[in-house]
Amino acid sequence: MNMFKGLRSNTAVAAVGVMKRSMAMASTTPRIKTFKIYRWSPDEPSSKPHMQEYSIDLNECGPMMLDAILKIKNEQDPTLTFRRSCREGICGSCAMNINGTNTLACLCRIDTDVSKESKVYPLPHMFVVKDLVPDLTQFYKQYKSIKPYLQRSEYPADGKETLQSIEDRKKLDGLYECILCACCSTSCPSYWWNQSEYLGPAILLQTYRWLADSRDHATEERKLALQNSMSLYRCHTIMNCSRTCPKGLSPGLAIAEIKKSMAM
Ligand code: SF4
Ligand code: SF4
Ligand code: FES
Repeated sequence: MNMFKGLRSNTAVAAVGVMKRSMAMASTTPRIKTFKIYRWSPDEPSSKPHMQEYSIDLNECGPMMLDAILKIKNEQDPTLTFRRSCREGICGSCAMNINGTNTLACLCRIDTDVSKESKVYPLPHMFVVKDLVPDLTQFYKQYKSIKPYLQRSEYPADGKETLQSIEDRKKLDGLYECILCACCSTSCPSYWWNQSEYLGPAILLQTYRWLADSRDHATEERKLALQNSMSLYRCHTIMNCSRTCPKGLSPGLAIAEIKKSMAM
């Protein structure tokens, strides 16, 4: 037996033991983090909106902001109201403004620096239903207005599916992944000020998703609906939308493509 090898492995085992003990000790030292969360309830219409403070031991909480908010609701304050469903960035319902950025709470890691508090607001420039729940009525009305479904003047004679080439299908990448969370639209200054008429980046990205679809036959009709000064041309290419999208999409680019196709 190699004596030095034995010594080295004994030392390594001891070091691992020390590491494990210190990790166990570290994990029992509370890591108290403060969360300030926007509160407003329609049940108390005379009360002004305010920020409410909660503290959580991060050792007893999952890593994401949604974990923290759920823990607060489950253990400290059942009146705290927010939307959530999938907890994996698919449903788009947990969109909110966290530390100044519109994002999905389930995809946003808690900043583990306990000396800094985390601030959570509803998506900006929207009417608030309660606490972190924005009113998305207008947003969905706009989505409905673009007819977000395949429109065809004729269907395959054999009654089977409408086929698409691999190249044409690729044109939908970066578009079909949009989950309509509204993070982009509510970060867009043009949408803040012209929400009743400007469609905003999310709905325009969806519009382009159908314009770019080789199977769709309503291209001219879709373009005609954008041929006015408000629906599309209120985009001033500020690009907040593309910086904000938690799915890494670029609504600003999609809008630029629409403008290009309108000029043709
Ligand atoms: S690029 Fe257009 S849609 Fe995007 S934030 Fe700027 S103005 Fe809004
Ligand atoms: S483009 Fe991105 S930010 Fe905008 S609605 Fe779709 S997923 Fe959300
Ligand atoms: S809970 Fe579905 S996207 Fe966050």
